[in-house]
Amino acid sequence: MHMHPIPASEHEEVYRVSDPEIGLTGFIAVHSTVRGPAAGGLRMRRYDSEAEALRDALLLSRGMSYKNAAADLPLGGGKAVIMGDAAGKTPEMLRAMGEAVARLEGRYWTAEDMGMSPADMEVVAERTAFVAGRKGVPFASGDPSPVTARGVYNAMRIAVRTRLGGGLKGRRVALQGLGHVGWHLADLLHGAGARLVVTDADAQRVAEAQRRLGAEGVGLDAIYDAEADVFAPCAIGAVINAQTVARLKVSVVAGAANNQLADAASGAALHGRGILYAPDYIANAGGIVNAATEILRIGNREGFVADKLAALERTMQAVLERAAAEGLPPEAVADATVEPLLTRTEPALRHGA
Ligand code: NAI
Repeated sequence: MHMHPIPASEHEEVYRVSDPEIGLTGFIAVHSTVRGPAAGGLRMRRYDSEAEALRDALLLSRGMSYKNAAADLPLGGGKAVIMGDAAGKTPEMLRAMGEAVARLEGRYWTAEDMGMSPADMEVVAERTAFVAGRKGVPFASGDPSPVTARGVYNAMRIAVRTRLGGGLKGRRVALQGLGHVGWHLADLLHGAGARLVVTDADAQRVAEAQRRLGAEGVGLDAIYDAEADVFAPCAIGAVINAQTVARLKVSVVAGAANNQLADAASGAALHGRGILYAPDYIANAGGIVNAATEILRIGNREGFVADKLAALERTMQAVLERAAAEGLPPEAVADATVEPLLTRTEPALRHGA
């Protein structure tokens, strides 16, 4: 396994990780350790080029710094990616990434992300102790997605109340992606009396949502045209872009995906159309809050998670209120709220870090 440093201006450390013999090319990006060890998952997916994979690692690790700070966790931001279809994943690749993580000596903690399973994390853990989201080890935190879904649900409730007034009962939610988070979210929304319009690349999941939750199923592209109160992106990033903004027929965007806005212009266009955006890294921080109990070795996981979810609700409320008062896009207010936290730590929170 070769681990070559890559110069980066905004990031503390970036590495290209490779082993031609086992077909591994990947990257590890440590954006910031100012607040604590950098935490963020390991993702495997197909990329068109190394430049694209590196860009993903850089953007996602930066996003993790913001997310961890927004959740007031004593953690920094990092992310790792492996290039290639997850179907081509081998234990050798996972062990090699584990070795690379081990060489960072705790400055970066990895976890499950797109294309990874809990079983894969056990293979990574053969080479490094700096892995979260495990099962059967002390402080194991397991699957983060139920907590992520709860946080997204809370964010959606606040955004709907702010923009439309009232609760989620009777509201129509266009849900993109019925994966780990999407399913939990669909269940919560169904329980709250919301009506669902769903899509997924896997037609079976759509069929199941139709059967179990009375959802309306639509095609992958048609979700952007769905007449609904809320659009909930829970599949992939950059879905709010120059092509989609003008098509949306919703009042609120609130979902689980990371980096939902393709760029600042798309966020501004959304704002210009009067669509209220619940900033992604505040809405979806539940998963890292859950994983943080493992990294920080917090005994009372349920209490910690409940406190953090409540704090995230207050943060979302404050961001949306300030955005409304100042006429600014919520993502700009969110960044302005979080950026001061990236340069200092909260001493009271440093215990156990
Ligand atoms: P997942 O991989 O379990 O589910 C994604 C779902 O989206 C799958 O059912 C897939 O078939 C579907 N999908 C993929 N491309 C699609 C497309 N173009 N249109 C419609 N559906 C499509 O992922 P998971 O864990 O549910 O995460 C969802 C999103 O939330 C991801 O962007 C992830 O990065 C983000 N996220 C997840 C967290 C977690 O706790 N799992 C925490 C924070 C963010």
